Amino acid sequence: MRSDIYTPKKISQLFGQSISKTCLFMAEENEEIPRGKRCQIGAINSRGWDMTSLPSIGEKWGFMKKWDSPLCMAIFTTKGGVLKTTLSLNISRMAALHNIRTCVIGLDMQGDITSAMGHDLDLEDSNDLDAVIKKLNETKGLADIFNRTARIEDVIRDTEIPTLKYIPETPELAALNESLGNINRREYWLKEKIIKPLKEKFDLIILDCAPNWNRLITNALVSSDLLISPLECKINNFRNFKVFRYFLDEFKREMQINFDTLFVPTKYSTHKKLSREIWQWYKENVSALAETGIRESVYGEEATALRWSVLEHASTKAVAHEMRKLLLEISVLAEKRCEKIKYLAEQEKNKKSLFSMTV
Ligand SMILES: Nc1ncnc2c1ncn2[C@@H]1O[C@H](COP(=O)(O)OP(=O)(O)OP(=O)(O)O)[C@@H](O)[C@H]1O
Ligand SMILES: [Mg+2]
Repeated sequence: MRSDIYTPKKISQLFGQSISKTCLFMAEENEEIPRGKRCQIGAINSRGWDMTSLPSIGEKWGFMKKWDSPLCMAIFTTKGGVLKTTLSLNISRMAALHNIRTCVIGLDMQGDITSAMGHDLDLEDSNDLDAVIKKLNETKGLADIFNRTARIEDVIRDTEIPTLKYIPETPELAALNESLGNINRREYWLKEKIIKPLKEKFDLIILDCAPNWNRLITNALVSSDLLISPLECKINNFRNFKVFRYFLDEFKREMQINFDTLFVPTKYSTHKKLSREIWQWYKENVSALAETGIRESVYGEEATALRWSVLEHASTKAVAHEMRKLLLEISVLAEKRCEKIKYLAEQEKNKKSLFSMTV
C-alpha cells in the first residue's frame, strides 16, 4: 500500500480543478468527505487526505461523472505495445478515483495489467522460492470459474483504491482459451457468466486484451458496450489499421453486435513529420476518432512502470493534460451509450406490450 498524502494543491492538480482548502474543510465538516490527516511537508504543517479518501473527493469535484448503468469497455487492437494496458490502467484508476466502482479483468497471458494492479508486489520482495510458488498456485482467475473450482467472489482482488478491484491473469488463461472452443455459445461465456453478474456490483468493467484475435478476445468484444482501440501514430500501426478495421466490422456484422468504438491516437511525436502526417490521415479517414491523442512521453512511460495513472504521477505535464481530456471524452461517450441502452430497453418493452395487446 502506498502511503501518499494528498494536500489540497495535489488534489486540485490531480482532478484539474481548483479546489480550495476552504471547500475541502467545509465538505469535511458536513461529513461529505472523510476527515483529513495532519501532515508535515518540509517545515510546513499541512492537512491532507490519503488514497482511500480520494474517491469521495473525486466524485464531488472531479471531471468524470458517474453514468447511469453499468458498462463494459474492452481495450483492444491487434498491434502490440501501443498503450492498451496503459489506457486500461489510466481509465480504471481515474474512474475509481471518481468513485466509479471499477473492476479490471486481464485477458492477456503476459499478465501486464495484473502486475499494474499491484498483484506481484509482495512476490518481488520475497526471497523464498517456495513461498512464491505457493502464492502463484493460490492465485485463482477466470479459468477456475470456468472449471467450477472457484466462484466470482473468490477471484476478485482488492487494490489500494477501495473502488478499484481486479481479476488476475493466471497461466491457465491459455487452457481457458482452448476450452472455450468446446462449449455451446462459445463467444458468450464471458458475457453471461462473468460480466453479467459483475454488472450488479460495478459501474465499469475494463477488459485489458492481448494484441491478437483469440477466443478470449471474441468473448471480450461480445461483452463490450464500448471498444477503446489505440491507434499508434507510427508506420507499422498505420499499415495494420485497415485490416484490423475490416475484421472488426466483419465480426460485428456476423455476430450482430453493436458496441460503440473510440479510436485513440497514441505515441504521437510533435516533432516527427511522419507521425504528424499519420495522425492527419487518421483524422481524415477514421470515423469515431478521439479528439485527443496521447503523446510519446517519458512521464507516461514512468507512470505505467510505477503502476500509477499519468495524472497521479505527473499531473502538470502535457501528457497528463491529454489523458484528462481523453478520459473526459470517454466519460461523455459512456453517458451517451447509457442513454442508447435505456432507449433500446424502452423500445423493446413497448414492442412486447404491443405484441401482447395484439395477441
Ligand atoms: N505516453 C507514453 N509514451 C511512450 N511510452 C509509453 C507511454 N505510456 C506508456 N508507455 C510505455 O509503452 C510501453 C507499451 O505500453 P503498453 O504495455 O500499455 O502497451 P500494450 O499495447 O498493452 O502492449 P501489449 O500489446 O504488449 O500488451 C510500456 O513500456 C509503457 O510503459
Ligand atoms: Mg498490454
